Amino acid sequence: MPLPDSFLQELKARSDLAEIASSYVSLKRSGKNMVGLCPFHSEKSPSFNIYPDNGSFYCFGCGVGGDVITFVRRIENLDYMEAVRFLAQRAGLTVPENQIDDGMAKVRTRILALNRETARFYYSVLMSEQGTAGKEYFEQRRLQPATVRHFGLGYSPPGRFSLVDFLEKKGFTQQEMILANVAFQSHSGRAIDRFHGRVMFPIIDLRGNVVAFGGRTLGDDKPKYLNTSDTPVFNKGDMLFALNFAKNGNEEKLILCEGYMDVISMHQAGFTNAVATLGTALTPSQARLMSRYAKEVVVSYDSDGPGQKAAARAIPMLRAAGLIVRVLTIAGGKDPDEYIKTYGPLRFKQMLDACGNDVEYRLQKAKEGCNLQSAEGRVAYLRGAVQVLAALENRVEREVYAGKVAAETGIETATLLSQADEGSKKIEKSRRKQEFREITRKAAGYRDSVNPEKAEHLRAAAAEEALIAYLMRNPDGAERIFALLPPGKFITEFNRRVYTRIMGRMKEEKSVSLTDLAEEFSPDEISYLAGILARHSGVSADLRDAKEYAGVILREDESRKLGSAAEAQPGDIEDYLEKLRQQKK
Ligand code: UTP
Ligand code: MN
Repeated sequence: MPLPDSFLQELKARSDLAEIASSYVSLKRSGKNMVGLCPFHSEKSPSFNIYPDNGSFYCFGCGVGGDVITFVRRIENLDYMEAVRFLAQRAGLTVPENQIDDGMAKVRTRILALNRETARFYYSVLMSEQGTAGKEYFEQRRLQPATVRHFGLGYSPPGRFSLVDFLEKKGFTQQEMILANVAFQSHSGRAIDRFHGRVMFPIIDLRGNVVAFGGRTLGDDKPKYLNTSDTPVFNKGDMLFALNFAKNGNEEKLILCEGYMDVISMHQAGFTNAVATLGTALTPSQARLMSRYAKEVVVSYDSDGPGQKAAARAIPMLRAAGLIVRVLTIAGGKDPDEYIKTYGPLRFKQMLDACGNDVEYRLQKAKEGCNLQSAEGRVAYLRGAVQVLAALENRVEREVYAGKVAAETGIETATLLSQADEGSKKIEKSRRKQEFREITRKAAGYRDSVNPEKAEHLRAAAAEEALIAYLMRNPDGAERIFALLPPGKFITEFNRRVYTRIMGRMKEEKSVSLTDLAEEFSPDEISYLAGILARHSGVSADLRDAKEYAGVILREDESRKLGSAAEAQPGDIEDYLEKLRQQKK
């Protein structure tokens, strides 16, 4: 059962999109509208728009848009009902729960409950006699009991059905276990424990839900870590291990590590602002997530080749998210976990405080292997240094570091700077080109997937979209249009669906907004609709224009029928010809 209309209207009235969005994005007024940097993709110039007129938002950069519910869905990564609850709580409203059939939300609630029980189970096994091997392992890794408890670490017993049996007793189905990815399906169809004989690391989201697990083998077998695949409650690219703890720190700084064990040892040593990705390279979405809790990130990856490569890829992503980046280089081929164990937290802290930002790090890299005593060495270093400087977008930063390099090499700052500026212009140009290409590709992608027929019927689809935008803004003219244009005349199916829905809605309510559609259209479809509204927001169409759009659709419909005349029956053809004659008049 859908939510009662009165409730949705109330919720909408109390949930101001601009106000809610501005707790995630900084917005500036632009005429009637607000603009800012899009929270859904990384960009340098603002293309994220809010239209207070109709309570919608749209990003011309990435094509994401919608109403306040869609905004919350996307930014908090929730489904429709969860977003409604989120807003209701904020507005002090009670969701009329008994009327709701929210299938997906129910599944997610079940999986979260299942995960919680699973984490409890692994923890209690670790604490029991059965868990000796796990306990010894953690001792050997020098984790204190308090740390084990704090992170809720556990042990999965070696048996094949230990967890499955336990969860079954708790009332979970095998299907739910498989969906949660704590079990897999055997050939016979029976669920089997996915993790056995591993020490377990629960992954906890910002609201305290256990959303996934990582399990490390005690020995040398492969894989070293087995992780939960993506499930209805878990996207590994959107999550950071230990951010649930790290976000509470009052430092506006996070330490980004590669592994679970690094993070845990750092927290144990008092660096409670450490987080890690979950066995994959950093994603832009994780970088943006960090930028919501910190201004600065210290990248603290392993000092081996792969670790340094991963750091080099992470740095620009973090910068693009607006973060200040510093890079910790750990001497002696160690990861932070080993370093802290060998040299203690104090030395680690000194290293952390002393570590340069990424510019210094890259200059250091450029200097490696160059003998500054020789002319060739200096030239080689300067070449590398100019590239590093050119990559800095901020002119002041460029000047500061140019000064440093100049002092090291005895060259004029101005000379170095002018070369760096030139390089920077080139980089900026190609970045713009790249960004533009990316944007058009993404925007096209959204459009194509929502309305695949559009490409073939550009003219008709354009008229359909203009008409949809008109109707949503001018409910008064709607009856006239409905009389003129039955839904069957729409050429593209998606727009026909929207039109039909608008018609149904206007018969009852005399108005329609994105929020009224948000329940039955997917987030991508809502984005697409918001895009239509945004593109027409500057156009003031009147009823006459709307009739014109309807006319275009009708004519396209006719010519489409004529186009398929070859396949029609002989009798039909007479009809078509007659219509064609009429049309010509
Ligand atoms: P590392 O191999 O550096 O692991 O991988 P680590 O954290 O230092 O582990 P220890 O100290 O040997 O216990 C870094 C991260 O990559 C992921 C894990 O998230 C790990 O923490 N990883 C690694 C996997 O997901 N699967 C693997 O097989 C290996
Ligand atoms: Mn390690």
